[in-house]
Amino acid sequence: MAGINENFLKLQSSYLFATIAKKVSEYSKAHPEKELIKLGIGDVTRPIVPSVLEAMHKAVDEMGKSETFRGYGPEQGYDFLREKIVAYYKARGVEIELDEIFVSDGAKCDTGNIVDIFAQDNIVAITDPVYPVYLDTNVMAGRSGDYDSDKGTYKRIVYMPSNSENGFIPQLPKEKVDMIYLCFPNNPTGTTLPKEELKKWVDYAIENNSIILYDAAYEAFITEEGVAHSIYEIEGAKNVAIEFKSFSKTAGFTGLRCGYVVIPKTVKGSSSTGEKVELNKLWNRRQCTKFNGTSYVIQRAAEAVYSEKGQKEIKENIDYYLNNAKIIKQGLEESGFKVFGGVNAPYIWLKVPEGLKSWDFFDILLEKVGVIGTPGVGFGPSGEGYFRLTAFGTKENTEKAIERIKQAKKDGIL
Ligand code: MLT
Repeated sequence: MAGINENFLKLQSSYLFATIAKKVSEYSKAHPEKELIKLGIGDVTRPIVPSVLEAMHKAVDEMGKSETFRGYGPEQGYDFLREKIVAYYKARGVEIELDEIFVSDGAKCDTGNIVDIFAQDNIVAITDPVYPVYLDTNVMAGRSGDYDSDKGTYKRIVYMPSNSENGFIPQLPKEKVDMIYLCFPNNPTGTTLPKEELKKWVDYAIENNSIILYDAAYEAFITEEGVAHSIYEIEGAKNVAIEFKSFSKTAGFTGLRCGYVVIPKTVKGSSSTGEKVELNKLWNRRQCTKFNGTSYVIQRAAEAVYSEKGQKEIKENIDYYLNNAKIIKQGLEESGFKVFGGVNAPYIWLKVPEGLKSWDFFDILLEKVGVIGTPGVGFGPSGEGYFRLTAFGTKENTEKAIERIKQAKKDGIL
């Protein structure tokens, strides 16, 4: 019998969003009359914008004619899209070269797959709470050590708490770590890091020869000055950071699937003999072996996002979601909840009422209020006592959900 990768046995239950989906589906089956409003997983509801749709239609037609048909594309992505990405960075004063960009089928896969190119014994640091993919993929890869069920943490992972006590600004690790996952604007807390704070992380990484894995999937939601749209806006970051970007939330691609990774050639890791190796080369080798490229039609769709019309259209959708965030934030505050995020991000992080735990609040909200959210503890032990709502619902449903929560609060249910 074939042996298994026993690291998988160290994973805690199922993937967070799969657990929630299962719970909700069981509840719906038992109560088909209940109308549930889903503000749990961050899945968009606005349809694909016209300019992207047009580009896709055109690309589909091209695939039906022998003169314009395309088979396998470049594993790294077509130049027509990579050129647009280069220009997008340039407009922010960041110089990225074409071959430092790797187009993919989304940031979830990229942030998960990147673990392939790092040494097994690397020490990994994550903020707590955290997007579960960063942690789970390192557990699968054997970097986590054993699970400590009392603490709810893995023994070899360095957790950097991020909570209302520290203003959601995680402290730099006291020890030397090799891989640091940062996500700003943050999922799940919806908070950001001022540029001068981000600089401290870059400086730490330079000093300690660490690599920062920077997830900027929510960059397009930034509304305030002083927040970096890319980690490369910070001096020195091009020597120590890999950046992940996604079209999912920015342009409604959760179903279409497209994202990209930026790996500057100046970012290097070390072999066991001390040789410095470009991570760009390793990732390129990994992608050429395990990935056959994002589909041509989808890359044409992504290209259209960067057109003048595309930018204007997606901005309208982003503003729509940011308005939802405002509705949630204001409504919850009026009801007396302590609320974070929602200004530069599509997520609202709230403190659950005294005496309740995150999953208690999830159950009450599901069963008594008919609103689905995500329990904070599902993102890590420091998320206990918090709860996440997403702004990606429709405006109508968002307003309805907040009205229901307000009523439940008045009725003493919450
Ligand atoms: C979330 O709800 O945290 C995100 O939608 C998950 C994802 O992007 O994979």
